[in-house]
Amino acid sequence: MTYAKFPNLRMRRLRQNSNILSLVQENNLETTDLIWPIFLTDETNKMVEIKSMPGVYRYSLDGILKQAEKANELNIPAIAIFPKISDSLKDEKGSEALNSKNLVCNAVKKIKLNFPDLLIVCDVALDPYTQHGHDGIIINNKIDNDETNKILSEQSLILADSGCDIIAPSDMMDGRIKLLRETLEKNNFKDTIILSYAAKFASSYYNPFRDAINSGKNLGESGKRSYQMNPANSNEAINEIALDINEGADIVMIKPCLPYLDIIYMASKKFTIPCFAYQVSGEYSMIMAGVNNGWIDKEKLVSETLLCIKRAGARAILTYFAPYIASEIIKRK
Ligand code: PBG
Repeated sequence: MTYAKFPNLRMRRLRQNSNILSLVQENNLETTDLIWPIFLTDETNKMVEIKSMPGVYRYSLDGILKQAEKANELNIPAIAIFPKISDSLKDEKGSEALNSKNLVCNAVKKIKLNFPDLLIVCDVALDPYTQHGHDGIIINNKIDNDETNKILSEQSLILADSGCDIIAPSDMMDGRIKLLRETLEKNNFKDTIILSYAAKFASSYYNPFRDAINSGKNLGESGKRSYQMNPANSNEAINEIALDINEGADIVMIKPCLPYLDIIYMASKKFTIPCFAYQVSGEYSMIMAGVNNGWIDKEKLVSETLLCIKRAGARAILTYFAPYIASEIIKRK
């Protein structure tokens, strides 16, 4: 490639005003890029703010319908729901995950009845339901991969049966996509989409989420490092993603986002199925801490981070800022 040299080529010619800037802009943020994660609680209070995530609430079954309505009005294509259940319903095996009348299943049914076109994403993992807060069950002091997979495949069936459109296994067990896909096919859920949390790193950015669903206090010193990925590795992420695609994932996800843009970039160049990214709770909280201290401009920083995630190659983004972006940023453009 040959380029003219200065002064024939002046890069600033294309930065003179917002019209020319917008014509040459390579990436855009649209409402159709967004998935909105929403917390659900079995408490009766309609909405309770999560301390470590200012501006993010847990909603009761009554309250969540309003949020679904809001997503619908804003044209956000999908919501992801995460339950916080009371401690009294938790046990060692996460049995409540397999109750077809549990909080998530009830919410999915209710939302689908009112807003049939709004896509619903549900996590497949046991952490909201186990006393220890791990995503799998513990046998002989280890998170048992294969026994966990059996429970996760039952959990997927229950979710699909409630009307969940997109099953999102976030547990990082080996071989679970294959088992989930087989189970869904066998039970005639042929159109249920699997969005695999394929490259999920063992990250400290998840702490506010664990506050939100009250799953963090008993995790123990080593946390989730025996199943989530080591942040030092990128080749391993490619292997994880390739495995999940081969096992039957329709979409893969990388998480967190900002410190992992290299992974998003590599994955989106290498694989031709859609790669999504999750701007996680800690990323949200850090931005909001800056905003609430008056240190940074919320609108500019939120737009910048999400645009950078798209530039790296994410096709869609799960972000707690989804309603803010859709209502405050994109609508005004
Ligand atoms: C649980 C799950 C986690 C997130 C999504 N699903 C947390 C974890 O693995 O402990 C993190 C989301 C966030 O931090 O916003 N399987």
